[in-house]
Amino acid sequence: MDSTLHQNDISDIIAADRAHVWHHLIQHKPFETVDPRIMVEGKGMRVWDAAGKEHLDAVSGGVWTVNVGYGRESIADAVRDQLIKLNYFAGSAGSIPGARFAQRLIEKMPGMSRVYYSNSGSEANEKVFKMVRQISARHHGGRKSKILYRERDYHGTTITALSAGGQPQRNALYGPFTPGFVEVPHCLEYRAQWDVADYGRRAADAIEEVILREGPDTIGAICLEPVTAGGGVITPPDGYWDRVQEICRKHNILIHIDEVVCGVGRTGEWFGYQHYGIKPDFVTMAKGVASGYAAISCTVTTEAVFEQFKDDAADPLSYFRDISTFGGCTSGPAAALENMRIIEDEGLLANTLAMGDRLMANLHALMDKHAVVGEVRGKGLFCGAELVADRSTREPVAEKLAQAVVADCMAQGVIIGVTNRSIAGFNNTLCLSPALIATPDDIDQITGAIDGALGRVFA
Ligand SMILES: Cc1ncc(COP(=O)(O)O)c(C=O)c1O
Repeated sequence: MDSTLHQNDISDIIAADRAHVWHHLIQHKPFETVDPRIMVEGKGMRVWDAAGKEHLDAVSGGVWTVNVGYGRESIADAVRDQLIKLNYFAGSAGSIPGARFAQRLIEKMPGMSRVYYSNSGSEANEKVFKMVRQISARHHGGRKSKILYRERDYHGTTITALSAGGQPQRNALYGPFTPGFVEVPHCLEYRAQWDVADYGRRAADAIEEVILREGPDTIGAICLEPVTAGGGVITPPDGYWDRVQEICRKHNILIHIDEVVCGVGRTGEWFGYQHYGIKPDFVTMAKGVASGYAAISCTVTTEAVFEQFKDDAADPLSYFRDISTFGGCTSGPAAALENMRIIEDEGLLANTLAMGDRLMANLHALMDKHAVVGEVRGKGLFCGAELVADRSTREPVAEKLAQAVVADCMAQGVIIGVTNRSIAGFNNTLCLSPALIATPDDIDQITGAIDGALGRVFA
């Protein structure tokens, strides 16, 4: 790929970036002596940086977003056409792409019926929290206002999303938090908290223990990732979800599934929850909805939830008094429609399952070869490898060593991820989430780079 930048442009851009841009989630002190990374172009699975270096991107834009790959002209065209026709109108009115995408989305989500548009995963989750609070206020005399969340899960960056955050390092220094959020234990069997045969059921029962402690009539909802992403790529143990559902139905607690990462194909089904037979009351999604070609998030509810917001049309406070200015941008659903068409026409769900199997098989082979790989986990094209200093004690490797593996892969031209500022002492899981278009060669190149890196870092 030709870089569009000349050497002079690059130094100007780096100088401007270094002087004025505050990057996300990174310590800036090193940028006083080292250039910040600037990405310039992308095509398919690959991106080129300002120095013209090519990278195979195994994390879909760093944070598991660019599911259909870079450089999709048909999405750019769909967005351009829509922007020229009508770029924006507030979400109190509808739009053509908004209506069409909602219809197409609901076709993929049996049991769900309403789509509320906003722009980020955090925001989509906050909408649910507000809906749950309003349902509590209007239909339960204000009692069912508490919201459960799980240790190690993440639901976003705003203060209230962090209040539902189970990653202490993400939360540290940002309190005080919104009251009424209560933590339940994680379900990662590799870091078992109970010595039992039926771990999935036991981990779910731990949720019921919290419910009974708090009082079931005080709890409105539980917010869970179908597969915990940044908290360590945690696939739920067998039996977990069946029991979680049983418990929630018994105590009249609404189920909110955060599909911000898993949604729209990442795990090889349209949604992660669809692997586990879950019947959610709320589903939120963001990253893969338009693969980062436009900012869009969706809060999807059942009709039963929706109905509770129009019970008394004469009451000025009865409806959902919420707005997201940019939830009215038509570029989001226009991009999302084309993104969905690509996934269907190119058979990307099937490819995700096939390439996910290949990735897992390759990771298992790495585990056979490198004692430092303690466990590999994953669903579809969202996989993780937990690195341990000692397989028998499962002591995590030092964080800087896990990061050294990432740096070594980067030097080889392969971008992988690692759990980052999530749980102190446990930022030791390599994360892989290549675009759903990955080929066998791409997968082998990714795991080949990790193989080399593990060999060097743990020589
Ligand atoms: C599971 C999950 N939920 C919510 C969010 C927040 O999304 P956003 O950064 O778009 O606000 C993230 C971000 O990584 C996430 O991983």
